Amino acid sequence: MKTGIDEQEELFRPIDLEFLQVGGTEFFDIFYKTTTFGNTQFVKFASSHPAHQDKIRKLIQSGESNEEFYIREEDLSKYHSLATKSLRNMISDPKIPFQEKTQKIYDVSKGIMKEFFDNNASDKMLQTSEEVMDIMEQCLSENEAGFHFLTMITSKDYYTYTHSVNVGLYCMSYGIKTKMGSNDTKELGLGGMLHDVGKSKIDASLINKKGKLTDEEFQTIKSHSSFGKEILESMQCYGLNVIRMAGEHHEKFKGNGYPNGLVGEEISNFARICKVMDVYDALTTRRSYKKAMAPFEALTIMGKQMVDEFDFNILKNFVHYMGPDL
Ligand SMILES: [Fe+2]
Ligand SMILES: [Fe+2]
Repeated sequence: MKTGIDEQEELFRPIDLEFLQVGGTEFFDIFYKTTTFGNTQFVKFASSHPAHQDKIRKLIQSGESNEEFYIREEDLSKYHSLATKSLRNMISDPKIPFQEKTQKIYDVSKGIMKEFFDNNASDKMLQTSEEVMDIMEQCLSENEAGFHFLTMITSKDYYTYTHSVNVGLYCMSYGIKTKMGSNDTKELGLGGMLHDVGKSKIDASLINKKGKLTDEEFQTIKSHSSFGKEILESMQCYGLNVIRMAGEHHEKFKGNGYPNGLVGEEISNFARICKVMDVYDALTTRRSYKKAMAPFEALTIMGKQMVDEFDFNILKNFVHYMGPDL
């Protein structure tokens, strides 16, 4: 049974105050959290109305506040539209270091995917990710970001939402490094971020199960790639490359993957790239039951024990672009 506190927490979401500086025509209330005698309450601090913005601006400028701020769940789409507007301004500002920009875009993407997986947000939430990936492509292609840098900002704890954003980022970086062209690179990043959306249709307790899976449970988990393809198709806003990444990222280059046991170039090039990034991120992040592998260790396993699963040219390119820091 849920307590009153849980219910309160479910109605609010943390936000990054900096994004409110751009102002806008849409207003929503901003809250902070207090706990008195074990009782959590969200207290109104300001609205994003220009008349209230001074309060927020002063707080940001003072740099003294460690307080987290929140908005009501129903205002998330307004907040995301302000956040993306703010990210757009930020990436064209030469005074802001590239690392800081990338980290901000990463954090917004994480928020979107977390909302989708953890809070059963509607498919509409996913559409915001397209805009954010567009911004990410601009940011990464204008700066010579080594792959090593990306591995420093990505989360090393495995959750479906962090894994999704990591794979999206790695795919995008692969597209830029191999000069795939801007549109393909954006699709690759977006498809990477959305490759596991089908997991939203599977019971979270099964996704997070620690012990060995029964055959039946494994079959259920496996259905996520077909579910993902169906979800993205039904949204009618994604291209075939993105849809095939969701549907084919568990196919193996030499066959015997799922759902269709496709072989070699029957698997789309985009899905073959996704497969490499998917496995790499799964190996290099930690879960409650396993440690994170170091990049070198992960690539060694991928190149030896798992080599039949990948398109060797993609794996080779990936190892090449991991850079001298490896
Ligand atoms: Fe998957
Ligand atoms: Fe995955």
